[in-house]
Amino acid sequence: MALLRSAFIAASQNHLMRRFGERSSVGRKLSSRFVAGMEIEDALRVAEAVNRQGMSVTLDSLGESVTSETEAHQSAEIYHRLLDAIAERKLNSNVSVKLTQMGLELSPDLAGKIAESLTQHAHATNSFVRIDMEGSQFTQVTLDIVRRLHAQPALRGSIGIVIQAYLYRSQSDIEQLLAEGIRVRLCKGAYKEPAEIAFPRKADVDSNYVRLSCLLVDSPIYHGLATHDEAMIEAAKSFATQHKIDPSRFEFQMLFGVRRDLQRKLVREGYNVRVYIPFGREWYPYFMRRLAERPANVLFILKNLVRS
Ligand code: FDA
Repeated sequence: MALLRSAFIAASQNHLMRRFGERSSVGRKLSSRFVAGMEIEDALRVAEAVNRQGMSVTLDSLGESVTSETEAHQSAEIYHRLLDAIAERKLNSNVSVKLTQMGLELSPDLAGKIAESLTQHAHATNSFVRIDMEGSQFTQVTLDIVRRLHAQPALRGSIGIVIQAYLYRSQSDIEQLLAEGIRVRLCKGAYKEPAEIAFPRKADVDSNYVRLSCLLVDSPIYHGLATHDEAMIEAAKSFATQHKIDPSRFEFQMLFGVRRDLQRKLVREGYNVRVYIPFGREWYPYFMRRLAERPANVLFILKNLVRS
């Protein structure tokens, strides 16, 4: 299983496979399991439908690691359009942004300025920008940018971050973020990291996830617990019940197309659920990371392809 996971993560970084996949019609069809569509309008339509089912949404315009300043600004433009559309259509939605898509590898200053203008826009339209967390080479700079923007009184509360439970450093990062009042999305972590900085054993990642989720649920700030793992979800629910923490004080987050049954069950039980909806033509690395998380998805997707 670990071998398959590594193979899919390696495939997610393969440029040739990516070019072929993203351009082929079969590739697009395959990706539709986890991706809302290629255009903004597709994402907005899915967001409306998810809202109608009683869940909030976060929209992700797919793409990472741009290679020019122009591309970074083009990526940002899509998010500005999204924020306007969210406000116009009164969607219960925010946006999730990757800093490498905003030029982080070219210049942290460029990515920081773009994130600042998106956060200003989100603040003006009563929305919120979640900065996704990428590979560990970007952890510190991502934290620095989010903390700097959150420290601006005019942007306070309009930007949040993601913390990955597989990193050893995450508990101390969370303690600092909580002290500063920054909203956190906790996930297990989707990249391949060395044992020097990340728990190699899944059981240790899971224990750390439970430990960190208790810290978040117990804090007065509104956080998100991103997972499809029922054991993680049950642990958070029972911690909240034991400590008389109202379900309205935090939310569960799940990916579009993953465990829809569980999403609906949580809504019925009265929990807040947010669905992460990715869209766009650059779906390949995202799609491969989803296969890495659950290689059995390959069979599932192929079966559906044959059926349709
Ligand atoms: P785990 O992988 O242990 O899976 C538990 C169970 O959930 C599985 O047995 C299966 O039933 C189900 N499941 C999990 N993944 C599935 C899939 N792809 N298809 C079908 N079933 C699946 N990561 C990151 O590094 N940076 C980030 O910013 C984010 N952002 C983010 C947002 C949201 C809303 C979510 C839900 C996840 C992320 N992630 C992320 C990804 C995260 O780090 C992690 O890789 C996945 O959520 C899978 O981990 P689980 O917690 O679901 O548990």
